Amino acid sequence: MKIISEQKRSLVYFNEKEDTFIKIFKPKFLNRLKYFFRFRKYPGDNFFFISKELKKLEINTVEIISHSHYKIVTKNIHGTPLHIYLEKNRDNNEIIKKYIFLVTKLLKNDIYSGDLSFDNFFVKNDEIIVIDLEDYRKVKFFKRDKKEAIRRLYGKINNEIIKKIEDNLKNLS
Ligand SMILES: Nc1ncnc2c1ncn2[C@@H]1O[C@H](COP(=O)(O)OP(=O)(O)O)[C@@H](O)[C@H]1O
Ligand SMILES: [Mg+2]
Repeated sequence: MKIISEQKRSLVYFNEKEDTFIKIFKPKFLNRLKYFFRFRKYPGDNFFFISKELKKLEINTVEIISHSHYKIVTKNIHGTPLHIYLEKNRDNNEIIKKYIFLVTKLLKNDIYSGDLSFDNFFVKNDEIIVIDLEDYRKVKFFKRDKKEAIRRLYGKINNEIIKKIEDNLKNLS
């Protein structure tokens, strides 16, 4: 097993034999209490819950092999991370359009993520696949939460793309 990503609160391994990715969550104590008292979903359960919500919206997401409160095992996508894909295909407007459509669809359907940066999306067969779902939330939120999701994109992705997402959402409301 190879370590792919080591964050303060999570660890991702690649299991070569099974061709799977294993993500282990290490939340702080206060959050563990919140999960225990059901104020919040456990990260593994939330990942699973959000993946079902995305499927309902016909949004492609990673295939989950198994999940528990603090662990999620997913199938290797065998795709390309969106940021790398875009570096190689600089003017691929089709994929950028798909990304804009996807993020608009998420926000329109009250699905919120604090990290919609390109490295949390993969490209395979010209389609976008969403990964890293544990911190997504589905809430009937106020307008300002949508604004917050968009605000967090600034500095991470091109301003023109963000403007288009904002325009799409304006046209909807
Ligand atoms: N199912 C998968 N298929 C392919 N790559 C994956 C998969 N799951 C995770 N990865 C790789 O591991 C990296 C880290 O996973 P991610 O869930 O985004 O964790 P982090 O919270 O550390 O960002 C991803 O950027 C991706 O390169
Ligand atoms: Mg990530």
